Amino acid sequence: MPSLSIHAGGLDLKNPVLLAAGILGTTGASLRRAALAGAGGVVTKSVGSVPREGHPGPTIVHVKCGLLNAMGLPNPSYRDFQQEIKTARSAGVPVIASIFGSSATEFAQIARVLKADAFELNLSCPHAEKYGSELGRYPDLVESVTGAVKAAADVPVWVKLTPNTADILELGLAAQRGGADAVVAINTLKAMAIDIETGYPMLGNRYGGLSGQAIKPVAVRCVYELAGRLEIPVIGVGGISSWEDAVEMIMAGAQAVQVGTALLGGYGIFEEITCGISRYLERKSMTLEDLCGLAGRRSQ
Ligand code: SIN
Repeated sequence: MPSLSIHAGGLDLKNPVLLAAGILGTTGASLRRAALAGAGGVVTKSVGSVPREGHPGPTIVHVKCGLLNAMGLPNPSYRDFQQEIKTARSAGVPVIASIFGSSATEFAQIARVLKADAFELNLSCPHAEKYGSELGRYPDLVESVTGAVKAAADVPVWVKLTPNTADILELGLAAQRGGADAVVAINTLKAMAIDIETGYPMLGNRYGGLSGQAIKPVAVRCVYELAGRLEIPVIGVGGISSWEDAVEMIMAGAQAVQVGTALLGGYGIFEEITCGISRYLERKSMTLEDLCGLAGRRSQ
């Protein structure tokens, strides 16, 4: 079988299929389980500098085309999360800590103390006041936060970008200028749903983020645009639920992919996707390297 191991974003990965932030990333046990089920790396739920309860419920709503969430960045604080990362690391794959803050200083403070194999900066949550895309939609802030974390951390720094912008490339270029080792595209699309019996918004926070299959074409377009211009790797995420989706995202230019909402169908998705990619590469007599960015080379 063709090798799926890669070096991407400063990490050695046994395969390019990672657990995305937010899903099953709140405990060391669930992160470890994803790793043992075949993930090439796992990203934690985002942690910040102080404990947060998150938004009032309902925080998750199923819609026809995917999942709407407005969790509101609930977390026990990075200090109380360290043990979970330690447990997850015992599975032997890189553990990437997703972190958030309201300023470059707050991000850097977390990165200075928390021990993980890499950081993923959440500059893209679309529904948390003072956090996520409230900073991440401004290129100068993306650059300064990235630069501050790079100076504070001794591990690779990935920047997760928001698609809720007119120009994601501008944000990717800002992350690159700040010294990012990779960008991760995309976080959820800002969205809402209304209960037509009562007229109330369905999420406690009214607005949330849409994930799942509906956003995959948006993610593919963002990855394609970023990979065509950036010198740093792009990690693709958004609506991947099959090996075919993963192959498409890699062809768009992603060096690795992350799987989130599809985990609702069980941990078996990692093996399903990695085996599917392997079989595809074998059938086409290709390597992962040949596959990565193929669509960009074809359209030149
Ligand atoms: C949340 O905790 O609200 C989700 C985080 C995100 O969308 O980045």
